[in-house]
Amino acid sequence: MLSQPPARPGSSLFVSFEGPEGAGKSTQIGRLLRRLESAGRPHTVTREPGGTPLGTRVREVLLDPDLTIDPLPEFLLYSASRAQLVANVIRPALGRGEVVVCDRYADSSLAYQGAGRGLDAELLRGITAAATGGLWPHLTVLLDLDPKLGLERAARRGQPDRLERADLAFHQRLRQGFLELAAAEPGRFMVLDATRNEAELEHAVWAAVQSLLPDVDR
Ligand SMILES: Nc1ncnc2c1ncn2[C@@H]1O[C@H](COP(=O)(O)OP(=O)(O)O)[C@@H](O)[C@H]1O
Ligand SMILES: [Mg+2]
Repeated sequence: MLSQPPARPGSSLFVSFEGPEGAGKSTQIGRLLRRLESAGRPHTVTREPGGTPLGTRVREVLLDPDLTIDPLPEFLLYSASRAQLVANVIRPALGRGEVVVCDRYADSSLAYQGAGRGLDAELLRGITAAATGGLWPHLTVLLDLDPKLGLERAARRGQPDRLERADLAFHQRLRQGFLELAAAEPGRFMVLDATRNEAELEHAVWAAVQSLLPDVDR
């Protein structure tokens, strides 16, 4: 088994959203949060990189279009942000029995810096295990999208950042990387076709979350 889900005190649940820029992660997270609010489920939403004061500073560095960052230091910066986020936000929220919803998590590093930039997968997994203490989501929603469509959607939002301007071949490798991660852990991943309409996707996500929270109001 590649990942070890955390123990679940009370009704805690850790859900991550993955996929390329423009896939609809923020859109679906917003919809899931409204569902959780209606169901009266305590929850915490966060994102990578970011989510802590350190993570926010690291995010500014990582997304700065004026900086050239090599793949290994890029990965280490993500890992630094992740370590702080796990320790200060995610584990405490799970400990309080909350649903934690994270916009990107370690799978993004494995896909971007592994499949995308060619760093050794075992190296990435070793450092990720150290940064997270082996914490992986119970459910990872992968919004799968043709990179061309994703870039078009992201471009409509405004100025592209450093990641969005990387070339199409990179984005094709990234998509393959995500799909391979999902294939290796079908019990954790739910792969959704991100071209489906927003309401359909919302229903699929909510059904999966409900199945992991058996006492939620239906
Ligand atoms: N299912 C969908 N179908 C069509 N467009 C969508 C869908 N979900 C999101 N979008 C649009 O695509 C763009 C990117 O969505 P967003 O949620 O910001 O993606 P991400 O957070 O993955 O980068 C937004 O303009 C959004 O309105
Ligand atoms: Mg987003």
